[in-house]
Amino acid sequence: MLQEEARKRINQLRKDIEQHNHNYYKLSQPTITDFEFDILMGDLLALENKYPQFSDPNSPSQRVGSDISKEFQQVTHQYPMLSLANSYSETEVGEFVQRVEKFSGEVPDYVCELKLDGTSISLTYQDGELLRAVTRGDGEKGDDVTANVRTIRSVPLKLQGNYPSSFEIRGEIVMPFAVFDALNRERAMQGEPLFANPRNAASGTLKMQNSSVVASRKLDAYFYHVLGENLPEDGHFELLQLAASWGFQLSPHARKCKNSEEIVSFLAEWDTNRETLPFATDGVVIKVNSRRVQEELGFTAKSPRWAIAYKFKAERVATRLLGVAFQVGRTGAVTPVANLEPVQLGGTVVKRASLHNADIISGLDLHANDLVFVEKGGEIIPKIVGVDTTQRVPGNAPIQFISHCPECNTFLVREEGEAAWYCPNEDGCPPLIKGKIEHFIGRKAMNVDGLGSETIDLLYQQGLVRNVADLYELKKEQLVALERMGDKSADRILEGLKNTREVPFERVLFALGIRFVGETVAKKLARELKTVEQLQRADLATLTAVEEIGGKIAESILEWFSREQHLLLIDRLRAAGLRFETENMVKEGSTEKLKGLTFVVSGVFNGFSRDELKADIELHGGKNVSAISAKTSYLIAGENIGPSKMEKATQLKIPVISEEAYRELTN
Ligand code: IVH
Repeated sequence: MLQEEARKRINQLRKDIEQHNHNYYKLSQPTITDFEFDILMGDLLALENKYPQFSDPNSPSQRVGSDISKEFQQVTHQYPMLSLANSYSETEVGEFVQRVEKFSGEVPDYVCELKLDGTSISLTYQDGELLRAVTRGDGEKGDDVTANVRTIRSVPLKLQGNYPSSFEIRGEIVMPFAVFDALNRERAMQGEPLFANPRNAASGTLKMQNSSVVASRKLDAYFYHVLGENLPEDGHFELLQLAASWGFQLSPHARKCKNSEEIVSFLAEWDTNRETLPFATDGVVIKVNSRRVQEELGFTAKSPRWAIAYKFKAERVATRLLGVAFQVGRTGAVTPVANLEPVQLGGTVVKRASLHNADIISGLDLHANDLVFVEKGGEIIPKIVGVDTTQRVPGNAPIQFISHCPECNTFLVREEGEAAWYCPNEDGCPPLIKGKIEHFIGRKAMNVDGLGSETIDLLYQQGLVRNVADLYELKKEQLVALERMGDKSADRILEGLKNTREVPFERVLFALGIRFVGETVAKKLARELKTVEQLQRADLATLTAVEEIGGKIAESILEWFSREQHLLLIDRLRAAGLRFETENMVKEGSTEKLKGLTFVVSGVFNGFSRDELKADIELHGGKNVSAISAKTSYLIAGENIGPSKMEKATQLKIPVISEEAYRELTN
């Protein structure tokens, strides 16, 4: 096929497929069979493969996803993704309305929207095309999951009508109950762990590496917030209606309300009606309609003043307690989990419930085989909120908390004022060991690219790592031999580990996972004590003299450094090249004589080695760079300097100085 012919055919196929998608998803009136559709898609994929020059990230073929794995890039949100203040009663909603009216001095319209219980997403569109899809993340930064989001058929890749040239739109990605149930049935058959609820399934799916699996999971997306400059409507509700005309599926059943009464009747209506919806909801979001008034009201540190979430009361059912299992988390905390006779609750079958801690068990006065009340709130696992003691079989024993770790049999400890029992065997109990390694590689600690908890699990299972220093002894062959580990992924992990040599001491210190040494404490310690040796030598008085460090933290640090194996660990990490001293320490003889100056050093010198000269420049506050640019202040030329460097310097009129002239600068 000639190129031109191929291009035409590709365009035609794209157009046809878009039309069939529209007929199927929007109009629910397909004009061809699924089989015929698959053939069209197959043709398009084949042509796009053969003629990559015509590829388009927003081609409908991208809906099938790809199996190229890639870690997600982090993206800073242009507008932070805040959460909403919660309310649980009509009174609180009434108070919200009063607050709004008092602050704004107006009686604005409100919009009530169902609060879909999925995972939020922010999409950026540029000139009518999907540019980027980013998860909420920590509200400021999220993961770029564009490839995965493209596979969601209700996300328009190209817009129709009269859309703004650039805007963001936010909404919820959900997994409908029917899809969720089918997925869990399939997972059960294959012996894979089940998702606890549709929300987890949706967010788990969105974070998958393989977008073709995402495509098969049939996620759905509903939108509820348009953001940007110079948008065409003041009304939030009206703006959303426009967005629908550009191709977005809106959060359904939204309604404009004039006052508290109308809002309250919406709440009452959906408290029961929501059970008929095909997806999970956990409340209603009430927003001021006018975006001008929204702006006047502004935000508190955490949430907008112009919106509030009303949470539905949790549903409650009764079922039998079959037993209590004890799980050791990665921090060592032991969590009791109740196994229940399966029961339908809020659209899913519940088999397990969290019991949180020993106090909750005794507070409930839980006995074997009790009839218990289970509630599902916003949590991942539902919880037991009460016992029907009238149904208790006499003679059944009270449930006792365990005394030893179920993983390593160490005697559990509980500290004063804390609710949880802990396994203290931090260097010997499997979940704790894995937890420490996960903490070490985490974003805020060493931020090891390419390494995640699944790989840590595998490495642990294979006996390849028992502590964080073992990571630095991993060989490529060992990594490649792991399940589902390709050549490239192995290289990335090794590269990621190598890059941790650049991580500053304060984060290395945090990464060690010393109890109570969080990010801030690590920073303070690194700044005050400067090196790990000083920290190791410090006594209680020295430690508590550091700002914000009290007795509890100091004791924990002393205890950590008193262990031989920890000192050994530091030695090994140091040998691996990690930083154990604070950079920019004020060194002896340091000045600011070269502050703001940039040097290129080239050639051979008499009084210095090249590295010594560079160190001397830094000692006096100057900066070294390797290539000459217009920003270079001086080229320091030694013997045998390369002609190209000299040429470049002359060209850019950068002064070339000798070793002697340099000494003048610093004297
Ligand atoms: S508005 C500043 N509208 O609830 C505006 N959020 O706690 C904040 N959600 O992260 C979002 N349905 O994931 C808004 N109609 C709706 C929503 C909604 C569900 C979720 C969303 C958000 C969380 C806020």
